[in-house]
Amino acid sequence: MQLFLDGSEIDKIIEYNNIGILDGITTNPSIILKSGKNVFEVIAEITKIVKGSVSVEVSATDREEMYLQGKKLSAIAENVTVKLPITWEGLAACKRLSDEGTSVNMTLCFSSSQALLAAKAKASFVSPFIGRLDDSNQDGANLISEIKKIYINYGFNTKILAASIRTINHVKECASIGADVATIPVNVFDKLIKHPLTDSGLKQFTNDWNKTGQSIL
Ligand code: E4P
Repeated sequence: MQLFLDGSEIDKIIEYNNIGILDGITTNPSIILKSGKNVFEVIAEITKIVKGSVSVEVSATDREEMYLQGKKLSAIAENVTVKLPITWEGLAACKRLSDEGTSVNMTLCFSSSQALLAAKAKASFVSPFIGRLDDSNQDGANLISEIKKIYINYGFNTKILAASIRTINHVKECASIGADVATIPVNVFDKLIKHPLTDSGLKQFTNDWNKTGQSIL
């Protein structure tokens, strides 16, 4: 499963990218607002750091303007993915941009029928929002399973990009179901590595090693 960062925190993007485990970035209008930066500037900055897909969302709601905004955003860098909402207008813009070779991420997906349509419109990614479904007492992970089954049934190439991730358990569920990508906010990303038994085990091994008086380098 590919790991994307859902955010625009440059220090964290550099940190994870330098470790070599960051496969891409997703943003949305709320993330851009939080960054306090101009969308073109922040996306240009991120695409210079990260080689993988960097999603940036259009603001338009009609197909022609979505298409034009998509063209403008995708001109920022080769690895930009244009994010469009799953509406009929969004699907039309998706098909047109995808046919022209632009990578498109269909966002705000809350049902498998929407995901089927995103695949039919040749989206590169579909983003089911699992946390927001869980927030409304529905089963976000189950939606990932449904979409996975449909895409396997028909051999669709659209990647399932699990979004709106709130917990480590969400990441685990997505990986065990077989989502192609999980896009993870910094507060969850940082926790993926943590386990108290790792900390105590490392402390013990370090102490014992020091007692041996040996050196490896
Ligand atoms: C997806 O790409 C979105 O940016 C994101 O995952 C939305 O998550 P939220 O429900 O935490 O806002």
